[in-house]
Amino acid sequence: PRPLVILISGTGSNMQAIVRAAQQRRWRERYRAEVAAVISNRPDAKGLAWAAEQGVPTAVVDHQAYPSREAFDDALAQAIARFDPHGRGLVILAGFMRILTPGFVQHHEGRIVNIHPSLLPAFPGLHTHRRAIEAGCRFAGATVHLVTAELDHGPILEQAVVPILPGDTPETLAARVLTQEHLIYPRAIERLLGAGV
Ligand code: GAR
Repeated sequence: PRPLVILISGTGSNMQAIVRAAQQRRWRERYRAEVAAVISNRPDAKGLAWAAEQGVPTAVVDHQAYPSREAFDDALAQAIARFDPHGRGLVILAGFMRILTPGFVQHHEGRIVNIHPSLLPAFPGLHTHRRAIEAGCRFAGATVHLVTAELDHGPILEQAVVPILPGDTPETLAARVLTQEHLIYPRAIERLLGAGV
């Protein structure tokens, strides 16, 4: 099987969309893909309980317990390796709010994907919805991309566009974008699996 290891920091609604997609026969039989684990850097991440209820193994690698980014990333890589011992699976960042070291990215080169709540290359980093509204953008969206050492860069796999409407707040816009994220993230992963990545 192709292990899918999903990293979260919070609610995990994108993780839920991917777990549900992976429950379909097509994912299991055609791609032999299986969500092997959900790992959080925060012990209180809401998504952990949901995953456990679905029977998905969960783990916590608490970033606060490590003295440096390198030490945290080493522990994270070890946790991933427990669920993907041959290093053949995908590492899926789903609302994972830690910056990864170049060493970590290199170790999983070409097998890490991220979803970012903007139309990259516009608005990398945080507070994307507030910044898009303040800039007067008429459209916002989300991007699924392969992770490279540079934050929120890397080859784009999938995007979705939504309008920014008069009166939008960062919250109303975030909700509109999130519904699209739930569609494009499973689709992007399915395409990667289909392409034999
Ligand atoms: C999503 O909007 C995702 O794009 C964003 O966090 C949210 C997580 O929601 N990710 C980032 O900002 C990455 N820097 P979720 O936990 O419900 O999937």
